[in-house]
Amino acid sequence: MAKKTPEPIGVIAIDGPAASGKSTVGRLLAEKLNFLYLDTGCMYRAITWAALQHEIDVADETAVTQLAHDIQIDIQPVREEDGRHYTVLVDGQDITWQLRTPAVDANVSQVSSYLGVRQEMVKRQRAFGQRGAVVMVGRDIGTVVMPDAPLKLFITASAEERARRRTRDRKTQGHSADYDRILADVQRRDKIDSSREHSPLRPAADAIRIDSTDQPPEEIVDAILQMIKEPVNGNR
Ligand code: CDP
Repeated sequence: MAKKTPEPIGVIAIDGPAASGKSTVGRLLAEKLNFLYLDTGCMYRAITWAALQHEIDVADETAVTQLAHDIQIDIQPVREEDGRHYTVLVDGQDITWQLRTPAVDANVSQVSSYLGVRQEMVKRQRAFGQRGAVVMVGRDIGTVVMPDAPLKLFITASAEERARRRTRDRKTQGHSADYDRILADVQRRDKIDSSREHSPLRPAADAIRIDSTDQPPEEIVDAILQMIKEPVNGNR
C-alpha cells in the first residue's frame, strides 16, 4: 500500500507573549515552506502609530475604533535592505520603523484591548488567512482568528530572556535601550494582554507549547518542520 502523505498545511498559527521569539520562528518557517508571513502585531501597532500621529487620545475608545475602520494598512515585501522583514504602509506612507518606537510599545496594548478595533483587524486577518499557505503570528491566532488552523504553536520564554532579546534588538538597530525599562514594559504588556476581556493571550487547547528560553529559533524551526513531515497523533 502506498504510504499516505500528510495533507498540506494551509495555515500555521503562532501565538505567544512579547519577544518570545514567535516572529523569528514564524518568519523562518514561512521562508522554508514558501508560505506568506503575516505578523498581526504590526496591524495593532499601525493603528497605535496613527492615533499618536493624529493626536487622538488612546484612551478614547470610540475615536480609536473609528480610526481602525478608516485606516488603510498594507503589508508588503521588503523594499529597502535596511534590516526590515516586511514593509508596512499606512495610507500609503512607509512607517515600518516607526512601529517599533517606545511610544508605540507603551500604547499598543491599550489600543488592542478595544473590541471594535479587534473585530476590524480580525476581519482583515481572516481574509489574508483564506488565501492559505500562510504563517500567521500574534496573540489570538489559534484561539480566535484561525481556530481551525491545523497546526498551532504557542511560544514562550522567561520575561528576563525576552527583555534581554528586546534590549539587544534595539541596540542592534542603533537605539539606546535600558534593560530594566524594557523588562518593565514587557511585563506590563504581558499583564494587559493576558487579562483583557476580549481575546486574551492564552494558548489554544490544541496548541503545541514551545519554550524558547534556551533554544535557538533555527532549532525550533527544524523541530516544527519535522512535526509537519511526520505528524505524531494529536499534533495535527
Ligand atoms: O513584537 P512584540 O511581541 O513585542 O509585539 P507585537 O506582536 O508586535 O504586538 C504588539 C501588541 O499588539 C501586543 O502587545 C498586543 O497587545 C497586540 N496584539 C494583539 O492584541 N493581537 C495580536 N494578534 C497581535 C498583537
